[in-house]
Amino acid sequence: MKSLLITGGAGFIGSHVVRRFVNTYPNYKIYNLDKLTYAGNLENLKDIEDKPNYEFIKGDIQDFDFVNQLFQEKNIDGVIHLAAESHVDRSIANPLEFVMTNVVGTVNLLNAAKNHWGSNLSDKRFYHVSTDEVYGALGEVGFFTEDTSYDPHSPYSASKASSDHFVRAYHDTYGLPVVISNCSNNYGSHHFPEKLIPLCIHNIKNNKPLPIYGDGKYTRDWLYVVDHARAIDDVFHKGKLGDTYNIGGFNEWQNIDLVKLLCNVMDEKLGREKGASQKLITFVKDRPGHDLRYAIDASKIERELGWRPSVTFEQGLEKTVSWYLENDEWLNNVTSGNYQDYYKKQYQH
Ligand code: NAD
Ligand code: DAU
Repeated sequence: MKSLLITGGAGFIGSHVVRRFVNTYPNYKIYNLDKLTYAGNLENLKDIEDKPNYEFIKGDIQDFDFVNQLFQEKNIDGVIHLAAESHVDRSIANPLEFVMTNVVGTVNLLNAAKNHWGSNLSDKRFYHVSTDEVYGALGEVGFFTEDTSYDPHSPYSASKASSDHFVRAYHDTYGLPVVISNCSNNYGSHHFPEKLIPLCIHNIKNNKPLPIYGDGKYTRDWLYVVDHARAIDDVFHKGKLGDTYNIGGFNEWQNIDLVKLLCNVMDEKLGREKGASQKLITFVKDRPGHDLRYAIDASKIERELGWRPSVTFEQGLEKTVSWYLENDEWLNNVTSGNYQDYYKKQYQH
């Protein structure tokens, strides 16, 4: 049996990855290591928490002794590392926490893997899940490829760029079997409502203003999270060691157009008059250092691993909005902090 450590599995993307691996690979033992910060929520995994090949472990990747012991105790031979502070605006307010988790936490995991694996590397793999933000900002044309130079602008992207460099350095210096992917903006169910799409879904539902930074012309490339989880499966199992894979949705939207589309989808679902929710759009002060445009060239993963997104943006957005409207309780809990109570009851802490 493979012993696989997934970090950050109680978060947005991590929960989709854990679900996919637990359901697809009954012969893997999946350990989900998560600190349960404000962004981690065990309700995200209720459907799989009782499966025999799954175990949740509460812990902090900033704590080296804890992480090192975990590798020995559970005899970890594969890592999919997603745990991170992930929100750009929070990184602007509190950069140090991003250094501690994203940089120091990643190096702790690398050291633990290196200690535990020694020279016995034949069936081992350390996979770092990273972001397209490390490449900086594009103008109106062009795409990020795997060869684009790193040029991060926010404390968040600087911390992810730094952790990518450490992962590559451990490959080049110690021969650690690593693989990295850099993905564009994800959307889908269980997305914390501090990020643009779930924040707007929450506010449209409650008739609250939809805050658009600057002129709203900033552009992102959106990928349905279930497709990202499938790409992570492909990279983990088929990616070439030492390589990087860019993952994207072939799906660029200016923020203002995306929010207008979301308003239309929500108006239809909520039985509101067409155009009603667009009246909530409010332009607010811009994010400092705001990157104009991200766009991924995902041709390498398509060519080498046969991966492509499976749903259109309209299909993915429809599924996402339906999920949020059908899961009122989830949204209420995460916006009120009540999900902590679930954890306490479940684990008697
Ligand atoms: P998220 O914020 O929803 O989840 C992060 C998870 O990590 C949470 O469950 C949190 O409790 C956990 N965590 C945070 N600090 C920890 C620590 N010190 N120790 C252990 N666990 C800790 O993030 P997400 O959006 O799901 O992103 C997951 C990963 O994917 C991140 O590495 C992020 O950089 C990357 N990524 C995200 C996107 C996106 O659009 N969301 C796109 C590309 C890459
Ligand atoms: O590109 C991948 C990255 O995508 C991930 O690495 C990050 O973890 C993830 O948070 C996301 O970063 P962004 O900054 O692009 O996502 P966010 O949802 O915060 O913002 C998307 C765009 O919408 C961005 O241009 C800023 C803008 N925005 C965001 C918020 C929260 C607004 O206009 N108003 C808002 O209130």
